[in-house]
Amino acid sequence: MPTIQPDRGDAATKAESGLSSSNDQDRRLLMLYVNIPFCRSKCVFCDYVQPIPVADLLLTAQDSTRQRYIRALCEEIRVRGAEFKSKDRLPYVIYWGGGTASILEHDEIKAVMQALQASFDLDQVAEATIECSPDTIDPEKLELFRSFGFNRFSTGVQSFDDERLRTLGRRHTADEARRAVDWARAAGFESVNIDIMCGFPDETLDEVRYTVSEALRVKPDHLSLYSFRPTPGTTMRSMIDRDNKDLYLANQKISFNQGRKMIAEAGYSEYASGYFGRPSLFVVKYFQMTAELVGFGSGAMSLFDGHFRTHNKGKLEDYIAQPTNYDVDLPANADPVVISSLRAGLSYFDGVLRDQWRDSTGTELDDVLARPSVAPLIDYLRGRGLEEDKRGLRLPPDQVGNILIDLNFRLLGQMSAPAPVKIRNTQRPNHSIPDAVSHPLEIQS
Ligand SMILES: C[S@@+](CC[C@H](N)C(=O)[O-])C[C@H]1O[C@@H](n2cnc3c(N)ncnc32)[C@H](O)[C@@H]1O
Ligand code: SF4
Repeated sequence: MPTIQPDRGDAATKAESGLSSSNDQDRRLLMLYVNIPFCRSKCVFCDYVQPIPVADLLLTAQDSTRQRYIRALCEEIRVRGAEFKSKDRLPYVIYWGGGTASILEHDEIKAVMQALQASFDLDQVAEATIECSPDTIDPEKLELFRSFGFNRFSTGVQSFDDERLRTLGRRHTADEARRAVDWARAAGFESVNIDIMCGFPDETLDEVRYTVSEALRVKPDHLSLYSFRPTPGTTMRSMIDRDNKDLYLANQKISFNQGRKMIAEAGYSEYASGYFGRPSLFVVKYFQMTAELVGFGSGAMSLFDGHFRTHNKGKLEDYIAQPTNYDVDLPANADPVVISSLRAGLSYFDGVLRDQWRDSTGTELDDVLARPSVAPLIDYLRGRGLEEDKRGLRLPPDQVGNILIDLNFRLLGQMSAPAPVKIRNTQRPNHSIPDAVSHPLEIQS
């Protein structure tokens, strides 16, 4: 069976330098994202799975609904693959996420991988990430992923304190997380990422320091530091609603900046807000719009051929019934998509580049910035130091994290179905901020 052929030279050079280009070659590159909407628990902070009913989220490989989901996923991959074959587009990056992609059992992994291999030419894939949780892997499973060409391992860890892990609803201990990283290295993954979090309502600064220092001790190639997004519907958000919000917001920024400082002092460079170390091609190419995103699965989102498309997340049966029908299909230059893309691009330190924006959306950046639904956000960001020049737009690197925390915190809703929501920004009463969406396309590290 052919495997993904990592092309480390080109990929590594581009990713590590943060370089990108807007030529036609790049526009033909694809990122294939596979969404696995299953987990072993529903963590109290998690907004990726927030719309998924617990009974669906916890389905096992023995449940017929999950089996039907995997079959539907393979069908979507095959149908889409046939469409892309005629378009001369080459997959360059693969990302299996979720939910928890590593929850899949061997037969499920083989079925999905074989569907991808049969439907796309994977010879040029430079980076293939498998997103894991420590409680769903073992050395044998990691070997299987490696045998299919996955070369990047990413795992959620969140905390190295066992009591915290328990209250977060995690199904692993700190030692099991450390062991998962050891297994990934032993299996030969070229790049290892771990996700850690801060901004829990009852957190102390000492806890943040401990989380970060323990994360640094495992020496990941890439480290993602996430500040809790208070998404409505998550259990943790309801805890915050009972708190003094101004104090909580101030503490969240202190925690995040403390974490950033420690990670930078350990020699990791931050290339996008909260992303440190060897850049992920998936993050770089998505944020800079230098490849098109094709998502498969319930809740996966796509941005290709000038369109944003998605299946509604959490509607498993709808997806199974019609895996090739999108629930949302909008031009890439529709207002909610524009806002979401701007927000994603600005979290990358190089910012939003005019050429790439034009190539990807078919719209001039200046034209969209002047739109009534976008202008209030841009005015707000100008007040926070937004830089604008011939190349594009960017936020001051030291402020991006604080600005995103402020935006996330002030948003009433998240974008599962794109719908602009205007809310008052209490600090700047003359401006309202559109629903800038905290993680529009579920971009992961
Ligand atoms: C899709 S989750 C998958 C990881 C994997 N299922 C696991 O839990 O180990 C990706 C990461 O998003 C982060 N995350 C999830 N919900 C978040 C929230 N509300 N705010 C900030 N980060 C969040 C967590 O760090 C998590 O590891
Ligand atoms: S953090 Fe991971 S395991 Fe926990 S609910 Fe979210 S996707 Fe599932």
